Amino acid sequence: MAIASSKTLWFLIPTVLLHFSPAKAAIKGGYWYNGTSLAVADINSTLFTHLFCAFADLDATTSNVTIASSNAARFSTFTQTVQAKNPSVKTLLSIGGGGGSALAARFSNMASQAATRKAFIDSSIRLARANNFHGLDLDWEYPSSDADKSNFVSLIKEWRAAVTQESRSSGKQSLLLSAAVAGSDQISPLQYYSGPDMANNFDFINLMTYDLFPSDAYPTSTQPPAPLYNPRGLFSVDQGVMTWNKTVGVPLGKMALGLPFYGYKWTLANSNSNGLFAAASQGLGAVGYRDIKSVGATPVYNSSFVTNYCSKGTDWYGYDDVQSVTAKVSYAKGQLLFGYFAWQVAGDNNWALSTAASQAWGA
Ligand SMILES: *[C@@H]1O[C@H](CO)[C@@H](O)[C@H](O)[C@H]1NC(C)=O
Ligand SMILES: *[C@@H]1O[C@H](CO)[C@@H](O)[C@H](O)[C@H]1NC(C)=O
Ligand SMILES: *[C@@H]1O[C@H](CO)[C@@H](O)[C@H](O)[C@H]1NC(C)=O
Ligand SMILES: *[C@@H]1O[C@H](CO)[C@@H](O)[C@H](O)[C@H]1NC(C)=O
Ligand SMILES: *[C@@H]1O[C@H](CO)[C@@H](O)[C@H](O)[C@H]1NC(C)=O
Repeated sequence: MAIASSKTLWFLIPTVLLHFSPAKAAIKGGYWYNGTSLAVADINSTLFTHLFCAFADLDATTSNVTIASSNAARFSTFTQTVQAKNPSVKTLLSIGGGGGSALAARFSNMASQAATRKAFIDSSIRLARANNFHGLDLDWEYPSSDADKSNFVSLIKEWRAAVTQESRSSGKQSLLLSAAVAGSDQISPLQYYSGPDMANNFDFINLMTYDLFPSDAYPTSTQPPAPLYNPRGLFSVDQGVMTWNKTVGVPLGKMALGLPFYGYKWTLANSNSNGLFAAASQGLGAVGYRDIKSVGATPVYNSSFVTNYCSKGTDWYGYDDVQSVTAKVSYAKGQLLFGYFAWQVAGDNNWALSTAASQAWGA
């Protein structure tokens, strides 16, 4: 609705943005995952605006969000620890993760009834405040039915209302709400997300734009695991972003682009045939960037796909190195996305990728 010309209202905009949208700067994000050996104190938080602490759990019986006792000490000190190097970094408690179908079923059940949604929402807010997080990140992998889709909408509307209410009654700045979502139909069907409702109720949405190679080509040929573009017409980061925008209906400015700090390893059929889409005899799963760098092989950059790869003997790795990360972050900036995030920071090698990403985005 046009309430006045933009000329007469331009001077109000900064106030409005400050009041309603504390997250509106941009995001240089990174997930810290409790299953890695990287100490929270060793995260170079100066390279990030937002750090996600992963993962809090969803109790199957109560639908409460909980923190495992083995995580309690590191999670409760997460914010103060990362803020020691960067006082302005924001922290979010990430709930869920890649726990497979059993965990997905817990989210489905929780979201299906008002009482269990309330248990989730109330306990999440209480946990965030008790542990000094600035926000909460929903990592439901993945809503996968029409019922999930509509229950997800109920959940996030009620969550946003509760967070707003809590901010009013506590006088504290509203908790941030974000979600990590399938980055492409290759990962999980995007039709089970309601984009406009997500855009209205989340501060931003993390697109997990990785693991994009077709499973039927794995392990028989080497693949770019998370190409920005795919000249062969298959899944790519760009295609995921555009589907989220044009089909799911989320503004580009609400999206953070996922950067994998890991790649995948293959065994080549023939060590002399070692490019993209070379014949392979075996797919050997995910390998962290740091571990790929420790192999000591020379990285090759392919700018048509925007991917790196390297090989030593018959060991072949497809991954993102400094060139791919730089090109992807430049794309995110050029498309006016909200920013980017890394899964996950322990995979980095002397902060090379985090630094490249931060520099490519700029101040
Ligand atoms: C990581 O968190 C999970 C709960 O989400 C917990 O079961 C596990 O013990 C934790 N791992 C470590 C190494 O602390
Ligand atoms: C952390 O990042 C900053 C900014 O790039 C850099 O100056 C500093 O050396 C890094 N610290 C470590 C321990 O890597
Ligand atoms: C679930 O969380 C609520 C706080 O939101 C708390 O009052 C309740 O005791 C918790 N239930 C259990 C079984 O821990
Ligand atoms: C796509 O993103 C643009 C830029 O943020 C936005 O104006 C447009 O409404 C989005 N498209 C849809 C269908 O939401
Ligand atoms: C990227 O790889 C494809 C497939 O091997 C090849 O056709 C293309 O020439 C490469 N592009 C660049 C810029 O290296």
